[in-house]
Formats: sequence, structure tokens, C-alpha cells
Amino acid sequence: MSVVEIEGVARRFNNHRALNNVSIRIEQGEFFSLLGPSGCGKTTLLNIVAGFIAPDSGRVSLAGQEVTALPPYRRNIGMVFQNYALFPHLSVGENVAFGLKVRKLPRDEQQRRISEALQQVRLDGLAARMPHQLSGGQQQRVAIARALAIQPQVLLLDEPLSNLDARLRKEMQEELRALQQRVGITTILVTHDQEEALTLSDRIGILGQGELQQIGSPAVLYRQPANRFVAEFVGQANLFQVTAENGEYRAQHHFSAPDRPLRLAAAEFAPGSRLLILRPERIQFSATPSPTGVNQTEAVLSEVLFAGATLRLVCDLPGGGQLHLQPAEARFQRLPRIGERCWLSWRAEDLIVLPAQEVA
Ligand SMILES: Nc1ncnc2c1ncn2[C@@H]1O[C@H](COP(=O)(O)OP(=O)(O)O)[C@@H](O)[C@H]1O
Ligand SMILES: [Mg+2]
Repeated sequence: MSVVEIEGVARRFNNHRALNNVSIRIEQGEFFSLLGPSGCGKTTLLNIVAGFIAPDSGRVSLAGQEVTALPPYRRNIGMVFQNYALFPHLSVGENVAFGLKVRKLPRDEQQRRISEALQQVRLDGLAARMPHQLSGGQQQRVAIARALAIQPQVLLLDEPLSNLDARLRKEMQEELRALQQRVGITTILVTHDQEEALTLSDRIGILGQGELQQIGSPAVLYRQPANRFVAEFVGQANLFQVTAENGEYRAQHHFSAPDRPLRLAAAEFAPGSRLLILRPERIQFSATPSPTGVNQTEAVLSEVLFAGATLRLVCDLPGGGQLHLQPAEARFQRLPRIGERCWLSWRAEDLIVLPAQEVA
């Protein structure tokens, strides 16, 4: 039995369709992320699970019980908001106690839960502090402790790290993952940050324009995107169209003269056009052509960006168009320069063929 079941949920605001027929099942102990660009409906969906917003249609169940019509306080859910929403005039301990007081738990049970929750987020001993005496990261952890103290069936996090600077955010990501595994709590994280979703999640649901585009593990989304939206939103993708003709595949307007066919690892597809993606880190950069000439094109370097462990290169192709590459920095004795001629190659299995309906 799934801990969270979202079935056919839809919601409009005025004439705007914020969510359309979204169905997701989340399992016990799973770290699930909802990932998508700003405005795609992530917060609306989380609020529907929490009970702050009612869906126009569809159902929400928690641990097998339908809760669609129940108010938030009747659902056993812990929620952490983007802006922390701590009570500024209450101490850390009193903030964590909030949900326990509402639930009228006995005093000693409250005390036990407060210290346990503060321990879980590694803030033991800070119960007497006021929120303004804490760093942004610590305040965020108080908000998480407050959500955990009620011992919810599921923890809902709405962009909880987006107000933190880049370094602290990375630290908090590791902390959050460790905490989630330690406590074993089923978690739904809303984020627009693909790297955050990829590093933290067991599975991710990609939302685009109110529709669920794909659900899968980080590796599946990256390696087998269901459509163009997912291919471009998760990681960087070189996209190009190929045409199958007489058993050969040719890229349109892109690759080397003489025009050589591409070799694909994927099964044969019917005559016609398809979209392919090729990830930047899968492209080999070389100063000389390989003798086979298969899955290779000549190019001219038009941009070189040093990014630490990797280089980001942009190459102009003879037929127009460009390829983006991300080779390891360590592969170069001397960094390539703009204007240099080069040869780009890739393995047949690195060409990902998108489903037929994805051709423009
Ligand atoms: N209370 C509301 N009234 C009107 N429109 C809303 C309301 N809440 C959200 N929306 C609209 O619904 C869409 C989805 O919003 P939201 O769920 O907040 O997106 P996200 O969290 O993915 O950025 C947006 O276009 C937003 O403007
Ligand atoms: Mg949002």
C-alpha cells in the first residue's frame, strides 16, 4: 500500500489550468521530488496533499485512507514552507512545540518530542534560543523539527533550501538526505533545482504546465527521458532531428560533409523523422579525425568555458547548428582555443531516440 496516493487531481484558478489529471503513488520511506519550472503547479499539488487547497477533481489518500475532504489539521502531515514561517516571538522549543500544543499532547510527551525532534536536526541544546539568533540554515532546521515533532506520515517540503546561499544549500542537501534516511520518513520535496532533485531523490516526478511529464529514478529520467520537455529540463541536451530513409539515419542540417549516416543502437524505426538527444558529456573531442568516420563530425570551436572539473565547449557544425560538449578538464594538456578545427564523435548507444510523437 502506498503512503501517498494522488489520483487524477486537477485544479483551475480562474481560467488558468494549474494542474491537469495528475496521478502519483509514493511508497513508504521514499524520498520523492516534484521538479519543474516556476509556475508549473508544484506548490499547488503539495498544498492539495496537505489540504490547504482543494482539488476540483481527483482524490488524495494517505496510508490507504481518503483525505480529499479533510482539513489540514485532520491529516497527519508535516509541512515546511519556503520562507520557514517560524514564529519570531517564540523560542526554538516553543516553535517546535506548536503542533503538539494544537494536538493537546501531555506536557511530558511534548518535552520528549521536542528534544527528539531537535536532536534529529542536530540542534540539541538550542531550545531556548530565539529564531533571530539563528543562521538561515539553523532556522530551516527548526522548521523541519517542528514538522517532524508531530510524527507525521509524510513530510512535505516546499523549496526549503531556495533561500540559502549556494554553499550552505549543498550542505543542507546532504543533511536533509541523511536526516530523511535516519528517520525513514516518507518525504515529498518540491524544487525547481534539477541538481537538488537528482542528488536527493529516490524518484522524481517532472511537472510541466500542470501536467505530469514523467516519473522515474534520477538515472531513468536522465537516460530515458519520455519527451523533449524532460530531456531539456533534466540535464543539458543536444537535440536534433534525424530522418530514416532506406535503412539509414541522417541528421538534418547538422553534420559533416561528406554527409555520413548516423549509427544508432536503438531498434529500427519506421521511415520518417525522429528527435534524438545527445548529452554533452558523452561527446568525445579530438584534434584529429578517427579513421572510421562513423558517428563523427567536423566542427569549429566557438566557445570555451572553463568550469573546474569539466570544460564547457560549444562547436559550430558545417551544416549550421551547434553541439554543446562537456569533456573532463583533465583530458587536455593544453586547453583548446576558439576558432580551432576539431572532430566530435560519440558512441551509437549515446544517441537517445525520443518517442515518435516528439517530432515537431
Ligand atoms: N491562489 C491562486 N490564484 C490564482 N492563480 C494561482 C494561485 N495559486 C497558483 N496560481 C497559478 O497557478 C500556477 C501554478 O502555481 P504554483 O503551484 O504556485 O507553481 P510552482 O510552485 O510550480 O511555481 C501558476 O500559474 C500560478 O500563477
Ligand atoms: Mg512554488
